[in-house]
Amino acid sequence: ATSEGEILGYLYSKGIKPDGVLKLSKDVVKMVCEEYDVEVIDADPIRVEEMAKKKEILDDDDLDKLELRPPVLTIMGHVDHGKTSLLDYIRRSKVAASEAGGITQGIGAYRVQVPFDGKPQTCVFLDTPGHEAFGAMRARGARVTDIAIIVVAADDGIQPQTTEAIAHAKAAGVPIIVAINKIDKDGANPDRVMQDLSSIGLMPEEWGGDIPMVKISALKGENVDDLLETVMLVSELQELKANPNRNAKGTVIEAGLDKSRGPVATFIVQNGTLKRGDIVVCGEAFGKVRALFDDKGKRVDEAGPSIPVQVIGLNNVPLAGDEFEVVGSLDIAREQAESRADYMRNERIMEKAGDGMITLSSLA
Ligand code: GTP
Ligand code: MG
Repeated sequence: ATSEGEILGYLYSKGIKPDGVLKLSKDVVKMVCEEYDVEVIDADPIRVEEMAKKKEILDDDDLDKLELRPPVLTIMGHVDHGKTSLLDYIRRSKVAASEAGGITQGIGAYRVQVPFDGKPQTCVFLDTPGHEAFGAMRARGARVTDIAIIVVAADDGIQPQTTEAIAHAKAAGVPIIVAINKIDKDGANPDRVMQDLSSIGLMPEEWGGDIPMVKISALKGENVDDLLETVMLVSELQELKANPNRNAKGTVIEAGLDKSRGPVATFIVQNGTLKRGDIVVCGEAFGKVRALFDDKGKRVDEAGPSIPVQVIGLNNVPLAGDEFEVVGSLDIAREQAESRADYMRNERIMEKAGDGMITLSSLA
């Protein structure tokens, strides 16, 4: 770590005399970063999203210990186009019917056994909300997923959150499969949907393009098997792997405060295996994992790669989207959480300070 004084000294040596208010041009910042061997990142949002995706989940040590892991599949699309109904049909459940106002408000994570190659294979599905207010959840869902399933209602066509969901999937660099839903309805026009999708750059496989599109009815279950088979084929091509025999790391997909249980967070394990008793740090929160619950609310002792799990035992509610990691001791966890909190505080100060204007006193 380099102290502030050292950097000030360096600036003086270059003839730059900062006083109370230090205004650094981009060039000076670059010069300082080069001197101290720090990577310069221009913080434009698309770049940041790319960086988040590229951020290595696997370490070099994992590479010769990789095992196949279940695919994580995120269902996205415009409000009411039938995302939850599709998952209900796949899971033989009735979540959509019990939702307040018929609208999904959080990310649901479910493990499903899908028959493929003559045997049941585990898949993890994330159901995201389609309402325009929940864009951050769609972005998050796209970031942790291996494949995006975009649901478009054939009687309603491409709508604002359809386009938004496609953009998230593209930004995350994941393959897209389109489910054209509600083909049982009067006024359903799946060909029109395919035409409109091709005009925004998603060319159906059927027409020589590279995007698989399956016409389904989530309500009646029509062609859902075809859709699942397509999903399994695309996942197989990706050769999804992780090292289950190491400390877990992954992403928080939801978090909140439960009156009796305290902070509760849903994690997706992306590498390693999370175990009861592990010490985790996630964002500004940390703690010892007191209990783990699977997607059916059943207590479990551990969760391996791709598996969603509810975690109890954190000192605070982390932010959805935070990454989590198992560390060696509570002291390390506390230290990392605190330095993360400091970092976030500085980020907020920088944001307030605006373009290039950093007051030294505001950093104190
Ligand atoms: P949000 O989560 O709020 O974005 O909605 P959603 O995309 O999950 O839609 P949901 O599954 O809640 O379905 C919305 C409505 O469409 C419900 O009344 C469903 O019964 C109906 N629906 C879903 N799929 C089909 C279908 O294939 N055919 C017909 N006729 N109705 C469907
Ligand atoms: Mg829904």
